[in-house]
Amino acid sequence: MKVRAEVGDITRLSVGAVVINLFEGVKQPGGATGAMDRALDGAITRLIASGEIKGKKGEIIRIHTLGKVPPERVLVVGLGKQEEFSQDTVRYVSGEVSRFLRDIGVSRAATVTHGAGIGGLAPQAAAQALTEGALLGLYRFTKYKSRDEEEKEPEELVLVEMDRSKLPALEEGIARGTVLAEATALCRDMVNEPSNEMTPSRMAEIARGIAQEEGLEISVLERSECEAMGMGAYMGVARGSHEPPKFIVLRYWGDRDNPSNGLALVGKGITFDSGGISLKPAEGMGEMKGDMAGGASALAAVKVLVKLRARVNVTAIVPATENMPGGSAQKPGDIRRAMNGKSIEVDNTDAEGRLVLADAMCYARRLGMRNIVDIATLTGAIRIALGEYRTGVFGNNQPLIDRLLRVGQSTGERMWQLPMDPEYKEQIRSQVADIKNTGGRAAGSITGALFIGEFAEDTPWAHLDIAATAWTDKEKGWQVKGATGVPVRTLVALALDLAEKK
Ligand code: BES
Ligand code: MN
Ligand code: ZN
Repeated sequence: MKVRAEVGDITRLSVGAVVINLFEGVKQPGGATGAMDRALDGAITRLIASGEIKGKKGEIIRIHTLGKVPPERVLVVGLGKQEEFSQDTVRYVSGEVSRFLRDIGVSRAATVTHGAGIGGLAPQAAAQALTEGALLGLYRFTKYKSRDEEEKEPEELVLVEMDRSKLPALEEGIARGTVLAEATALCRDMVNEPSNEMTPSRMAEIARGIAQEEGLEISVLERSECEAMGMGAYMGVARGSHEPPKFIVLRYWGDRDNPSNGLALVGKGITFDSGGISLKPAEGMGEMKGDMAGGASALAAVKVLVKLRARVNVTAIVPATENMPGGSAQKPGDIRRAMNGKSIEVDNTDAEGRLVLADAMCYARRLGMRNIVDIATLTGAIRIALGEYRTGVFGNNQPLIDRLLRVGQSTGERMWQLPMDPEYKEQIRSQVADIKNTGGRAAGSITGALFIGEFAEDTPWAHLDIAATAWTDKEKGWQVKGATGVPVRTLVALALDLAEKK
């Protein structure tokens, strides 16, 4: 679907549907909703009075106009309570509306820019959120379906605005929203792809493709090079698989005048996590094809930053490999050394994410990165702690964490900080090595984060545990079943924030 903006009067357009909105509790709507109500001789206010239109968040009421006005239908979408309204409400309702349009087979629709009126959002921010929601809400992963049994996607959604002076802001918002939604879809595609296709080699090819298209620097380290660099932790994980590991480094130089102003996005790239010798149970193991979601989000975020010409240097680092129980696989009790010389007791081969990240963190530090953010489907325990609505944030630098929490508020990819008190470190102390890769059931996400922190050392670092947010089995707002694309938009927002306020 294409989203664009146009100056015009929403009551006079010949389209399949016009989308207007209503806050919960409003009895006499103003703005475009009021105008449409008058054009329909008070039909909307009557439906509000009778209780059929309530304005609850995501509610969509369809009114057939039967020739009274040029649009064939009017959809009144509820924005919920005004005091709970935010940019993310726009994204949410926009996702619901776009699927509704698809379901009822409308190919051209027009809409007001939800939130830009009494919602109080800046027109650009509202248009961006609307675009992101509409495009992400329509996302489907259908490439392996032989027959196209699904409804056709709407062709066009037009943001209609009376005031010509607002048009440039709307267009800028649409352009940004489109770029972000496309990159998020790329991330979703990579995560939804089965592991027989989305191998480490395929991830490297995708990264090469981005580099070629956008003119970026890329290097892909092979097994022998990683061995030679002393990446013992990462290589330990890769031993169990025949699939060649690929250590992907994709670099965007958006601020060459400040070469030291670098942000590293270190993304876990386990293309399949069987657990290794500490094999996972069969049930639900297929979901582990998505264990490279962190890596996919890092690559996708870089792609957006180039397109937006962000004035910041960003390097995506993705240690990609399978975690398999092959004949040469590492075994519980093995001791391996990471690139910084620290020895690690591999107590459980299923705690592989922190192992591959350990070396990737060391590598980021060698590149002299000022800030490091790692993104990982790291622990099942994060679902127990936070459920699927918030990503867990950890780190050694409160200003960096605060930035993430703040930008996550506007992207709607909500996060919550968890503690890292030194007492928890006791749990990952090893009898035989410098550190152990498991810390028991208690505070599993925290001990995972503390492990990674050992390799961040004194570099400002934040860790995002997306194990419960990268994937969903619900269709709600801008999310659909399968990969969510979290936290691509937040990584982009963070980098843009770092570019603006150095
Ligand atoms: N990839 C998993 C974490 C995961 C679980 C992601 C569920 C998505 C959904 C990770 O590698 C893992 O296996 N973690 C272990 C760590 C434990 C052995 C210390 C876990 O959470 O059980
Ligand atoms: Mn695992
Ligand atoms: Zn894993």
